[in-house]
Amino acid sequence: MKEDTKIVHKGRDPAANHGIINPPVYRASTIAWGSVAEMRYRRDHRWEPGVYTYGRHGTPTHEALEEAFAAVSGGYRSVAVASGLAAINAAMLAFLQQGDHVLMVDSVYGPARNFCDNVIGRFGVETTYYDPAIGAGIADLIRDNTRIVYVESPGSQTFEIQDIPAISAAAHEAGCVVIMDDTWSAGIYFKPFENGVDVCAMAATKYIVGHSDVMMGLITSNEEHWDRVRPSAAVLGANSGPDDIYLALRGLRTIKVRLKRHQETGIALARWLQARPEIDRVLHPALPEFPGHDLWKRDFTGASGLFSFVLKEGFSDGQITALLDGMQFFAMGASWGGFESLILPANPAPNRTATSWHGPGQLIRIHAGLEDAEDLIADLDDGFGRLNDAG
Ligand SMILES: Cc1ncc(COP(=O)(O)O)c(C=O)c1O
Repeated sequence: MKEDTKIVHKGRDPAANHGIINPPVYRASTIAWGSVAEMRYRRDHRWEPGVYTYGRHGTPTHEALEEAFAAVSGGYRSVAVASGLAAINAAMLAFLQQGDHVLMVDSVYGPARNFCDNVIGRFGVETTYYDPAIGAGIADLIRDNTRIVYVESPGSQTFEIQDIPAISAAAHEAGCVVIMDDTWSAGIYFKPFENGVDVCAMAATKYIVGHSDVMMGLITSNEEHWDRVRPSAAVLGANSGPDDIYLALRGLRTIKVRLKRHQETGIALARWLQARPEIDRVLHPALPEFPGHDLWKRDFTGASGLFSFVLKEGFSDGQITALLDGMQFFAMGASWGGFESLILPANPAPNRTATSWHGPGQLIRIHAGLEDAEDLIADLDDGFGRLNDAG
């Protein structure tokens, strides 16, 4: 089955469901066992497909999404949890104990950094941040107690592309587990397991759900690590509800066509922004001028709709506010991956410890939604008009 066909057909069986195309929503807390023997069987086999024990541990609705996403992303199995951050936390905790060491990319999503510094750090797990451009050089940072090498590519807000095959090879040589946040490519434009990743933790909140109405995370693992990952997701108690799972499954069915459009519009906006005199540079991996472009071209098959641009130095706070306030189509808010376009000012500098961030001006993150690209460009053009008028 080719990828597009898997996206449409995995995780459902109309013949077993009265011919109905979509799987039903099973809402459950208690799941009754018919006999002591059945109770024992289910408890002993609780993480196997088709075995249900308790609502928190999943239902056939959960399994439909998990089966479909594991097939699409090329993993062994997936488990859905309550948010992308819950997926990251459960994936990491699956492997850590007191005295361990984590290698974490410096351009990581901020709350994952917070989890390392302020949660596992309190329990005796040390984190060292590394330059996203490190590649095979990661080997020099690996210690005897390094358990996890964590990658996120492109980097949050700044879009550095990592050499994941090289990093994974070095990590595996030293017996470390490679965990990736693959939210940007949604398991579609990058195939983590073909590139050496062991466990993928992502925010399904973004492109999988795709409609800005559900929080969800997916943890997907290779076969070797599944026995640690699945119980870790369960023990933290951050399960996802079946109605949300249903919406995520519906989002997954159309992800390829949506992503293609996000990509096209994102590149159109990035090129237009690149030509603006107010701009220092555009941070978009699909632009040949972007430093990580060659690696992106080697390892990715496309780009989603999230990228940033950096203003030249010298624009006042009032000018930047004038640009951002009064946008007609770009909403300002956290998250991304929905059908709507977003614009967000961000400052990567405080989240850097292994590298430093030099703007020189304000960084502004864009999510290219599914609106008409010309309307979006006109909206940005008006925004730059306001910026200049406020000068
Ligand atoms: C790259 C990345 N990973 C993980 C997350 C966390 O996802 P959630 O908001 O579903 O917890 C986000 C959210 O913005 C993100 O941008």
